[in-house]
Amino acid sequence: MRVILLGPPGAGKGTQAVKIAKEFDIPHISTGDIFRQNLRDNTDLGKLAKEYMDKGLLVPDEVTNKIVEDRLEKDDCQKGFLLDGYPRNVTQAEELDRFLQQKGTYLDCVLNIEVEEDALIERITGRRVCPNCGATYHIKTSPPAVDNVCDKCGAQLIQRSDDKLESVVKRLEVYESQTKPLIEYYTKKNTLVNIDGNKSVEEVFEDIKKALGDRGK
Ligand code: AP5
Ligand code: ZN
Repeated sequence: MRVILLGPPGAGKGTQAVKIAKEFDIPHISTGDIFRQNLRDNTDLGKLAKEYMDKGLLVPDEVTNKIVEDRLEKDDCQKGFLLDGYPRNVTQAEELDRFLQQKGTYLDCVLNIEVEEDALIERITGRRVCPNCGATYHIKTSPPAVDNVCDKCGAQLIQRSDDKLESVVKRLEVYESQTKPLIEYYTKKNTLVNIDGNKSVEEVFEDIKKALGDRGK
């Protein structure tokens, strides 16, 4: 199963991706997570990515495409993959098509998670993440058992540096101008399925499972 998760910042892509990867036993590849991991490891890539991420801008395509292609070459992607946050503009989508075609493979499904804009801001500004294991929480909808402490590993939770309001506004603008055109791109290719992301995490996941089941494994 080869799947893309599309949707605006805060739509719940990362939240659903963890569940989908487990259910369908495919690797979860998040470009945002790869950049954040590099930042924690203090690599050149991490430093470069931070400059763009904190401003709410996209990391340059050449850098991002190369990272994804290197990852897709790994053995565990033979059985499929779930791309979360990539592609993010038409240039990246065209490059991914070219890459998959060269490998003689194709996408099974593009899941487009739709959420109202007011709810997006509420979700992003209330998000807390674990800097140690990457788990995601929300102060209202999915708080940890103990305030500000990760349920899974006990680390102190933090707010992502690009989750402050000015970065969020820019990320939403970038989504509108650069990422939204992918809805039309994949609709034309007949791979897009819209998912109502305004429902609860579990309800959204049920709808996703149905959509992926219908598309076949
Ligand atoms: P990235 O990490 O991909 O961030 P994003 O797309 O902005 O998405 P988010 O992580 O903000 O949201 P999400 O949809 O995963 O929501 P989540 O599940 O956490 O990218 C960050 C940056 O990296 C970019 O700005 C760019 O600079 C760079 N980058 C990444 N990919 C790139 C690419 N391909 N090219 C160039 N640059 C790239 O949920 C949000 C909150 O809501 C959480 O608190 C969660 O608990 C809560 N929540 C989730 N679902 C629900 C629900 N159903 N009901 C209520 N609350 C919910
Ligand atoms: Zn943790």
